[in-house]
Amino acid sequence: MKGDIGVIGLAVMGQNLILNMNDHGYKVVAHNRTAEKVDEFLQGPAKGTNIVGAYSLQELVDKLESPRKIMLMVRAGDVVDSFIDKLIPLLDKGDIIIDGGNTNFPDTNRRVATLKEKGIHFIGSGVSGGEEGARFGPSIMPGGSPEAWPFVKPIFQAISAKTENNEPCCDWVGNDGAGHFVKMVHNGIEYGDMQLITEAYQFMKDGLGMTHDEMQSVFIEWNKTELNSYLVEITSDILGYKDTDGEPLVEKILDTAGQKGTGKWTGINALDMGIPLTLITESVFARCLSSLKDQRVEAEELFGKKESIVEGDKQVWIEALRQALLASKIISYAQGFMLMREASNENGWDLNYGNVALMWRGGCIIRSAFLSNIRDAYDIDPELSFLGSDSYFKGILENSMSAWRKVAAKSMEVGIPMPSMTSALTFLDGYTTARLPANLLQAQRDYFGAHTYERVDKPKGEFFHTNWTGKGGDVSSTTYNS
Ligand code: 6PG
Repeated sequence: MKGDIGVIGLAVMGQNLILNMNDHGYKVVAHNRTAEKVDEFLQGPAKGTNIVGAYSLQELVDKLESPRKIMLMVRAGDVVDSFIDKLIPLLDKGDIIIDGGNTNFPDTNRRVATLKEKGIHFIGSGVSGGEEGARFGPSIMPGGSPEAWPFVKPIFQAISAKTENNEPCCDWVGNDGAGHFVKMVHNGIEYGDMQLITEAYQFMKDGLGMTHDEMQSVFIEWNKTELNSYLVEITSDILGYKDTDGEPLVEKILDTAGQKGTGKWTGINALDMGIPLTLITESVFARCLSSLKDQRVEAEELFGKKESIVEGDKQVWIEALRQALLASKIISYAQGFMLMREASNENGWDLNYGNVALMWRGGCIIRSAFLSNIRDAYDIDPELSFLGSDSYFKGILENSMSAWRKVAAKSMEVGIPMPSMTSALTFLDGYTTARLPANLLQAQRDYFGAHTYERVDKPKGEFFHTNWTGKGGDVSSTTYNS
């Protein structure tokens, strides 16, 4: 009997996905560039299963049922292209290549198009959930050649995480790089969620002078509220974890954040599309700032920086912080969905936002109860332009407003940096202001560069130029927006 699917790449994610597929009754053919890895896997974790090995790409191809489904679980970038190039001459028309790595979506757009010319289908799929997710149920976000989906769907939906109603956290996202785009936004939101949690931690630790056990209890309590999520849950575990000397391990970890690039791509994409994705982008910058450790150490001394203690009832502050975190999180998701909406419109992907929320409901790093509410919001209005306008989320934003402002103001007053929570509030203040000072900005542009402006008392699309100083001319520069 031939294999149902082939997987190339036996690092931890690849191995775990294969074992997961095997658990669900699929026969998987496993290949790795180095043969020893195949042997190690077959004699180790895959021992006693139906998994078979392939020591060359030809052997892999020969061992697979038609149309062949070959999933690449290799490092994103050139390695993917090099495997595709080697596979093309071995494959038949109608065969399917799947890239399950964290690929930048323009690469997937390109690969779908080039492989289409050769009659080969390509799927770029986000896979989220880390090692454990891959092994027992990840969130899977596939997009690319729609013709390939019916062949891959049963396998992917079987191995994916399931919601509390047993719905698979995997569905077709859209054409081209839509799957990898949605995974990129997932990761951007992951950056935002993590940053918000760290800001709450710093406020509690430095502002309220709380111990790690106290902070752990707070996160345990918060996990029973609307904030219920995987990232809040692991944060409580982390805060309670003691090093061998009995001290909290987290305080021994160097405060410079790493990043593999997906958050940065989300920010770049938002700038490209003109979407004010402020919270996620602040979260990326917060990681960049954290990495300037030596400079920060020097600057703290140079400026004699001291944070003052947050006075007042601790319990009241903790509840205010919870509300500020929740409200900021709504803004982060609202911005992320704005970005997806713009990309969907620009690329003709016809993204189903409710389905995206469902795919993120289980298995992935940002899984949370909150995503069910997002799904409900898009069920009510599939074209919702701002998540915060949905009645459930609007209610939370309004109820949290005063606590959120208090936390933001206090953080500024005492000198605790909270870039994501404060930028979220600033965003909402901007978004809910009918008249912003961009009129003055337009006047400045016209003053120094004759860039023209529109008038509130004239139809849109009519452009005016003023000779502000009497010295400039009446000739305006061309009017276009990038
Ligand atoms: C997931 C994660 C994963 C990501 C890591 C590291 O969905 O399972 O998003 O894909 O690569 O979390 O990301 P950074 O190194 O950028 O923090």
